[in-house]
Amino acid sequence: AGARGGARAAGGAGGAGPLGRVGARPVLPQQRSVADAQVLRRKGRLQEQDPLIEFIMGMHATHTSAEAMAKVEDWIAEHIRDPRRSRLSRMVPGVGRFLLPLHLRSALEEYDGFGYLTARQYVPPNFAEIRHVLNIAQVHAVSPHLGLVTFDADGTLYADGAHIEEDSEMIDRIVALLACGVKVAIVTAAGYTEEAAFEGRIEGLLMAFRSLPESVWSNFYVMGGECNYLLRVVERHAGEGHPREGGGGGGGAFGLEFVPDEEWKSPEMRSWSDADITRLLDQGQAALLEAADRMQLEVQLVRKERSVGVVPAVPTVYECLEEITLTAQVQLNGDPSNIPHCAFNGGGDCFIDVGNKAYGIDSLVRMFQMEPKQVMHVGDRFTVTGNDAVAKSKFGILWVANPQETNWYLSILQNDLDHSRGTGGGPPKDARVSEQKVPF
Ligand code: IMP
Ligand code: MG
Repeated sequence: AGARGGARAAGGAGGAGPLGRVGARPVLPQQRSVADAQVLRRKGRLQEQDPLIEFIMGMHATHTSAEAMAKVEDWIAEHIRDPRRSRLSRMVPGVGRFLLPLHLRSALEEYDGFGYLTARQYVPPNFAEIRHVLNIAQVHAVSPHLGLVTFDADGTLYADGAHIEEDSEMIDRIVALLACGVKVAIVTAAGYTEEAAFEGRIEGLLMAFRSLPESVWSNFYVMGGECNYLLRVVERHAGEGHPREGGGGGGGAFGLEFVPDEEWKSPEMRSWSDADITRLLDQGQAALLEAADRMQLEVQLVRKERSVGVVPAVPTVYECLEEITLTAQVQLNGDPSNIPHCAFNGGGDCFIDVGNKAYGIDSLVRMFQMEPKQVMHVGDRFTVTGNDAVAKSKFGILWVANPQETNWYLSILQNDLDHSRGTGGGPPKDARVSEQKVPF
C-alpha cells in the first residue's frame, strides 16, 4: 500500500483550506473534522436496491401484502419451471434464478408476528420488510437440503474491519451448523498471501475448535480474495510455528493452511495468466484513481497480487464510493483480457478483485460434490456494486443488514435443522418463537 498524493498532497496543519486539503474546493466549512463528516454521512438508500423487492413494493399500490406474496410465490414457482419464458422474467428484468420454491404466504404470516403487515391499512412494507419475508422463506426452503452455508465476512459475521472474537455469538452458531454435518465457509473479498492474516480474523473460532472433534472443525473453510485463496483448518502441535501465540493448553492449537490450487481451482481459474491479471489491475487502478481525482478525493492506494483498491483518507459519503465503483465497472466493461473480476463498494473502500464470489462458491460446491440448491450464501451487499450480488443468480441467498440479523436468521435455521435432523428436542419453531431478540 502506498500513499496516493496525486495533484493534491494531504494538507498539513495550517496550510490547508476549509476541507483540510491544499487546493481543495471549499464546500461546506463544517466539513472540517471527522465528527462533522459523520453528521453529513446520513444513511442513504443506495444499499437497498433490488429489482424483485422493488417490484413487490410497487405491487402494494394495488394489492394487499397477502395478495402480493401469494402472487409472487406462484410466479417464482413458474419461473423455476421455465426461467426464460416466465411471467416473472418479463415483469422483473434481471430477476435472476431461483433454485427452490419460496413459500411466501407462510413467511408473511411469520413476519406478521412482528411487523403486522396484513393488519396495516395505510403503511405499506418498506424494502427491509420485504427482504425479511423473502429471507424467512429462503431459510425454510433450503434447510431440508442444506449442505453448505457460505458467509460473507465484513458486515455479515462481524462489523466492517473487525474479527470474530472469543465471545462472539457467531461462534456457537457456526459450530452448531458444523455439528449438524453442514459445511461452513467464510467467502470474503479480503485476500492475503499469509495464513496468519486470515487466522487473525477468526481467532475466536479457532480457539473454540480446540475443544471440538475433528469431525466438526474439518467441515470449516475460508475462501479469501473472493475465489483466490482457499484455506482449511489444521491442528498444529507445539514447536510448529504459528498459529497464534498463547493458544496453548491441552491439545494442539488450531490454524489455517492454504489448500493447493490443483485441489480446488477449475481449469478456467488456473488459466488466468499473470500478464492478463496485471493488465486488468492496472486498468482498474487507473479507473479508481481517475474517479477519485475527479471528485478531488484523497485516497490511499492498496495494490495486491490479486486486487487493487482505494481507501479514502478522510471520511467520505457512501455515494462517492459508489461513483468510484461504477466508474471502475464501466471502464473495465470492455477489458480485453476477459479476466472475470469484481469491482465493488465495500462501504469504507472500493476494490477490484480478480474473479468473484460465484467462482469461490462454485469451487466449494465442486470440491464437496454438492448441488447448487444445497447452498445458501449469507451476505450484506447484494446491489449492483455489492460483491455478494453475483451469488444471487446462482445460489440461494440470505440478505442481511448487519451481524445481529445474521445471528437471528441462524437461530431460525438451527430450529429447522434440529427438527429435521433430530439434533435438538421439541417441536419445530418458526420466526415468531425464535429465542433470539428480533433485530429489526
Ligand atoms: P467482505 O465483505 O467479507 O467480502 O470483505 C470486503 C472488505 O474486505 C472490503 O471492503 C475491504 O475493506 C476488505 N479487503 C481487504 N483486503 C481486500 C482485498 O484484497 N480485496 C477486496 N477487499 C479487501
Ligand atoms: Mg460484506
